[in-house]
Amino acid sequence: SASGHKGITKQYPHTPGIDAGGIVEMSKNADFAADDEVIVTGYDLGMNTDGGFAEYIRVPADWVVTRPRGLTLRDCMSLGTAGYTAAVALYKMQALQQDPSMGPVVVTGSTGGVGSLAVALLAKAGYEVIAVTGKSNAEEYLKHLGASRVESREFVEDLSGKSLLKTRWAGAVDTVGGTTLSMLLKACGPEGTIVSTGMVQSHALTTTLYPFILNGVNLVGVGSAGMDMTTRKKIWKLLEEDWNIKDKFPAIVKEIKLEELATNHVETILEGKNMGRVLVKI
Ligand SMILES: NC(=O)c1ccc[n+]([C@@H]2O[C@H](COP(=O)([O-])OP(=O)(O)OC[C@H]3O[C@@H](n4cnc5c(N)ncnc54)[C@H](OP(=O)(O)O)[C@@H]3O)[C@@H](O)[C@H]2O)c1
Repeated sequence: SASGHKGITKQYPHTPGIDAGGIVEMSKNADFAADDEVIVTGYDLGMNTDGGFAEYIRVPADWVVTRPRGLTLRDCMSLGTAGYTAAVALYKMQALQQDPSMGPVVVTGSTGGVGSLAVALLAKAGYEVIAVTGKSNAEEYLKHLGASRVESREFVEDLSGKSLLKTRWAGAVDTVGGTTLSMLLKACGPEGTIVSTGMVQSHALTTTLYPFILNGVNLVGVGSAGMDMTTRKKIWKLLEEDWNIKDKFPAIVKEIKLEELATNHVETILEGKNMGRVLVKI
C-alpha cells in the first residue's frame, strides 16, 4: 500500500495502516459502546478502506475485537497483523499435530515483524527454533527472542537440483516463498508442517510432489486478513494467555511518531532492513 501497489490499494490518495487500536467514540452496533477499548487487524483496513494511521477511523463492527483483558492496546498493536499471523501459523501447526518432540522448526525472514513474533511464539510453545536471517548482526536479538540457533539465508538454499533432501528440520514458518519455500519442503521430516505466510522473496513456488507423497509433509497457508471472527477471538485469547510474549516486546518494538514514518521507516521496511515491529503513535 505504501509503495503504490495496485494489487493492494487501487485508489490514491489513501491512508494506509493495516492495524488500529483505540477507544470507541460512537457505535451503532449493540456489541460496542463509547469508551470500549478495541482493536482492528486485517480485513480491508489500510487496503481499500482508509487505514489506521488516523486519529479517527470508521469501520464495520464485524471487523472489531474487544481488547483482550490481559493485553494493553499497546501490546495488541505490538502484535498487530504480524503477531496475529505468526499465531495463526502456530495454531495451524498444532492442529496438524506438529509436536516439539519431532525436532526443530525453522523461521525464515526471522528478524521481520512476522518472523520475530513467530520465533518468540514458537519458543514460548516449547519448540526448538532455528532462525534464518540475512542480517549478520541479529544473533543476540534472535536468541533473546528464543531461537536456539541462528543461521544465514544460505542454510535454506539448495543448489543440488534434487527433489528431496535428507531431513534437516521438522517444520517451518516461512515468510519468504520462492526457492526458500521449495527448499523448506524438500528437507522437512516426515509428517512435518510448513506454514507459508509471506512472499518477500517471490510469490512463485516450484516443487515436486515427493515431499508430500514420500514424507507426508503438510504445506498450509495463512490468510490472516479475512479469517473468521470465531477463530480470530480464539487466537487473541491464546495471545493473551498461553502464548503471551509481552516480555519480548521491548526488544521487538520501536515506537515512532507518524511524521517519522515516511522519512525513513517505510523505505527500510521495503528494503528488508527493518528488525522487529514499528509502532506508530498517533
Ligand atoms: N499471510 C498473511 O496473512 C500475512 C500477514 C502479514 C504479513 N504477511 C506477509 O509476510 C511477509 C513478511 O511480513 P513482515 O511484516 O514480517 O515483513 P518485514 O517486517 O518487512 O520482514 C520481512 C523480512 O524478510 C526478510 N527478507 C527480506 N527480503 C528478503 C529476500 N529477498 N529473501 C529472503 N528474506 C528476505 C528480512 O528478514 P531477515 O533479514 O531476517 O532475513 C525481512 O526483515 C510479507 O510478504 C507480508 O506481505 C502475510
